[in-house]
Amino acid sequence: MKKYIYFDYASINANPDEIIFTSSATESNNMALKGIAFNKKKGHILVSSIEHDCVLNAAKWLGKNGFEVDFLPVDKNGIVSPVLVKFQLIFLMLIC
Ligand SMILES: Cc1ncc(COP(=O)(O)O)c(C=O)c1O
Repeated sequence: MKKYIYFDYASINANPDEIIFTSSATESNNMALKGIAFNKKKGHILVSSIEHDCVLNAAKWLGKNGFEVDFLPVDKNGIVSPVLVKFQLIFLMLIC
């Protein structure tokens, strides 16, 4: 039995070829992280240290497969300091 999904692409100003349906958030997160990373081929990834395990594991996997990965600490509210991100970006620009 075929099932059809109706999706109103126009409501989010998207084209059908810009939307990928996946079976889970884990699959979506893996596809997003690894897809962007391998499109860039190399680079440095900054990840909040309290991401869902599937994001942390994808980032760790990328760290073993040619990418630099930093897991940024969060404050008591679970927020990564924008100042820390700024310093990380400046540091990365200086060493690249
Ligand atoms: C951010 C995030 N990623 C992934 C998952 C895992 O979702 P799934 O069971 O659809 O793979 C969850 C589940 O709560 C989530 O909150």
